[in-house]
Amino acid sequence: EKGQSLKGKHFIVTSGGTREPIDPVRYISNASSGKQGTAIAQSLLNRGAKVSFIYGASDVPPPAGVDAIAIGSAQDMYDAVHRALPADGAIFCAAVADWRPKQAGAEKIKKKHDGTTPSIEMVLNPDILKSVAELDQTKRPALVVGFAAETENLVEHARAKRQRKGCDWLLANDVSPETGTFGGDQNKITFFASDQPEDWPKMSKSGVAEKLADAISKHFGDA
Ligand code: C5P
Repeated sequence: EKGQSLKGKHFIVTSGGTREPIDPVRYISNASSGKQGTAIAQSLLNRGAKVSFIYGASDVPPPAGVDAIAIGSAQDMYDAVHRALPADGAIFCAAVADWRPKQAGAEKIKKKHDGTTPSIEMVLNPDILKSVAELDQTKRPALVVGFAAETENLVEHARAKRQRKGCDWLLANDVSPETGTFGGDQNKITFFASDQPEDWPKMSKSGVAEKLADAISKHFGDA
């Protein structure tokens, strides 16, 4: 039965966008809506799973019934994910900033009156998905799932990304502006459980979440 197929299983789901502080009132972020991650958490809950939902800036609230952990920066998300372990599965849906300002000023950066602008030095953020996929077998969730937002050469890039990150499954979506995926309600997924792409039809983000949750239930030995 669908309602109980993931009972007793714990999943971590990351969702939304991170905010990388420049100073106490400014940050660098992205246009992630959090809709796909939220839908996935809901579909896992619907199957009886316990869900640690670690989320950044989103247009939608976390689903009722998750263990909701709100975070700001990528480093905060990294810490929250590693604190939420152990888990049976981890789904990395968040749009994590690749870089952050090296120094977040303690005071608001003053506008200069001589017309000059600040330059912001950036440093790399940790790759949260990769850090979890690389954990040793005793700590690694049995199923690690990543996303890849691509605008070109989707299949090649996604295949390489799955290998590089060490995740088990990867869902690639075309986020070219004309697709309306970013912030929209529809998604078009190319699914990789191996190097072999599987094209899913264009469907709602909740449809994608249901299809993924079905695959996860099946993976954990239940239909
Ligand atoms: O490398 P890229 O950002 O395209 O990878 C996307 C996948 O990796 C997504 O699943 C995203 O949630 C995850 N990710 C992460 N930590 C980062 C960057 C990406 O977990 N710093």
